[in-house]
This record gives sequence, structure tokens and C-alpha cells, in this order.
Amino acid sequence: MKKILTVIGARPQFIKCAPASKVIRKYFKEVLVHTGQHYDHEMSRAFFEELNIPEPNFDLGIGSDSHSAQTAKMLIALEKVVEKIKPDLMMVYGDTNSTLAGSLVASKLMIPLAHVEAGLRSYNRNMPEEINRICSDRISDILFCPTRTAKENLENEGIKKNVYMVGDVMKDLILHTVRSKNFKKRILENTLFNKGPFCYLTIHRQENTDDVVRFKKIFSLIGNIKYKVIFPMHPRTRKQIHKNKIKMPANVCITKPISYFESLAFQMNAEFVITDSGGMQKEAYILGTPCITIRDETEWTETLKNGFNKLVGIDKKKFMSTVDKCITLKLKPNDNLFGHGDASEKITKVIRKYLC
Ligand code: UD1
Repeated sequence: MKKILTVIGARPQFIKCAPASKVIRKYFKEVLVHTGQHYDHEMSRAFFEELNIPEPNFDLGIGSDSHSAQTAKMLIALEKVVEKIKPDLMMVYGDTNSTLAGSLVASKLMIPLAHVEAGLRSYNRNMPEEINRICSDRISDILFCPTRTAKENLENEGIKKNVYMVGDVMKDLILHTVRSKNFKKRILENTLFNKGPFCYLTIHRQENTDDVVRFKKIFSLIGNIKYKVIFPMHPRTRKQIHKNKIKMPANVCITKPISYFESLAFQMNAEFVITDSGGMQKEAYILGTPCITIRDETEWTETLKNGFNKLVGIDKKKFMSTVDKCITLKLKPNDNLFGHGDASEKITKVIRKYLC
């Protein structure tokens, strides 16, 4: 059996690899490497347990550091593992520092590289994720795009060979989860998730958390919402709130980072979602819940169609008028912008052809 070495390390990558890994393991021996970028139980282990992700074969235990130091430590540790395993192909997901490290090691050791979620662009080079994506796409041998726009972005950069529009693996997982008995029983019947009305907030992007003026403004905007706001707090956000002594508005209920099932249930039952996450813009869209994005640009431009997702930055007038619109918005997206829930199957089919 041919060997595929998959590099993951941060919360969104656990979610993305869960559906793909299941299909890949039917045909290949998968060696899973966790860089340790995320390490708190609720940011890492909890996802492996809930989503039945196989135990990583290697945990590099890198942890937090500056972007350069974190990536450099990953490169050194990962290279040793890859030299030992000698995989036939390496796989990376998304745009984190773990993605960049995996891509660079594959390229230096001349191992074919497949990038899942290729072609995304925000065109904001101040985002570390944008640089990670551009670098990974440039050096990938197979590029799996979740949307048509992503494929067009690559074409515009002259990347045309081995580019496949397969749909989004996150849609695979959403469809699988919402149909599962376990999800319905454990989550949807739980009154905590459907006692409304409420809205659901996540904020963790460096451009929001590390700019104190912007960060404070976000919470002053949130304080104007008439609903209860459920706010699971990312560790980066928690640190910045403590450091800057930011007082939470009275309508905000803070929780620890929550599980994937819980997050989907909150998104399904919320009046609307407020976020700066990339993944949640998609999830909210697929689940039919309006989304307010606290950013100035998005790589998921198709979610802006039908007014389902609105980019508001930190403009108060825009924010409040969007909140009013979201409350009355009753649209159901009936398109397949993110594919049909079979991205993992399509990815595996392409890799089988490539390797066999
Ligand atoms: C990373 C990704 C981002 C993704 C996000 C999902 C990069 C450049 N960014 O950002 O694209 O949306 O993951 O969460 O890779 N920390 C803990 N415990 C943990 C993990 C982090 O306390 O388990 C703290 C550390 O102090 C760290 C900070 O959170 O400095 C930020 O973590 P880091 O891994 O640098 O990036 P994220 O902000 O999570």
C-alpha cells in the first residue's frame, strides 16, 4: 500500500482532515502527523475524540511561539519524521503555519504535495494565512479547490496543472454530522442549544485581537445587540482580553472553546452568527444562518451572494443596519457552491490516479 503523510496541527485542520482521512484510509496507509500548533484539550484532543480521527502517529509537540519560530521548529521536527517514513505523497490542509511547514518540508525532500483548500485568496498580505496559502499553492503538485472562485484565482496566477475543483471537505462533514444519530441525540435535543433567541460570536484573528482600538470597538458594537450573545473564547482572544482589561458587555455569555458538534448546533439555532473565522462563514452559509463578518475582506466571496454574509469591518452604522437585516432575513441557500458533500471521495480518486 502506498503511504500518505498528512500534516495537521490547528483546530480547523482536525475538522478538515476528519472526513478526508476516512476515505483515504480505504486505499492508502495514512501516517498522521500533529505538529502540536494547538495543544489545549478543547482546541485539539476534543476534536479527535468527537470526530473519531485516528490517533496521530507522531505528535511534534511544537506549541506556541512567534510565527517564524513556530514554523522553523515545525520544519526541523517534521523533516526528521518525513525522512524516516519516506511517504509517496504528503497532504496539507488550509492555511496555517502547520500547512506552510508541511508544504516546505515536502518540497525540500522532493515528496509530491497535495494541498486541500487551495486557491483561496483574501488579497490581504498582512494576514499570515494569506502568505501561507500563496506559498503552499506555489509549491503543490496537486491542488484541490473548494470553489470555482478558488480555481479561477489559481488560473489568474498561472497555476493550471493538476488543479481540481472538488468541493469543500467541510461540507462533507456538515452533511454527515447533521444526519448522524449521535448529533441529533446528544446536541439537537439539548435545550442549551435551542433556547433562543441568541446570536453566536467567535473572534480570534490576529488583525482583530492584536489591534487594541479595533478589539475594544468590536465589543462595544456587540454590546448594542438586543440578544444574548454566546461567545466561546479562543485562547488568543482570552489573553488579549485579560491583557487589555476589556470589560465584556452585559449581553455576552463567555464559554470555553466548544466542540465541533456544539458549534454546529449553535450555528443552526442562532438568529445570526458574528465571526472573523473563515470556516464559520462557510458553515453558517451551508446551514442557512445569516453571518456578519468582522473583517474588511473575505476569501469566501461566494458567501456574500444573497446577502447571507456581510462584511462590516468595525463600522457601527454598517454593523447595526446589518444586524437589523439579519434578524428578518429568511433565505435558504439552495445552491451547491461548496460542492455536494463528496469532496473527500473526489480527492481520494485524484490521488489514486496520481499515485497508481
Ligand atoms: C491559527 C491559524 C488560523 C486559524 C486558527 C484557528 C496560523 C497563522 N493561524 O491561529 O488561520 O484560523 O489557528 O484557531 O497558523 N494558544 C493556546 N492554546 C492552544 C493554541 C493556542 O493557548 O491550544 C494560544 C497561544 O498563546 C498562541 C495563541 O493562542 O500564541 C495563538 O495560537 P496560534 O497557533 O499562534 O494561532 P491561532 O491564532 O490559533
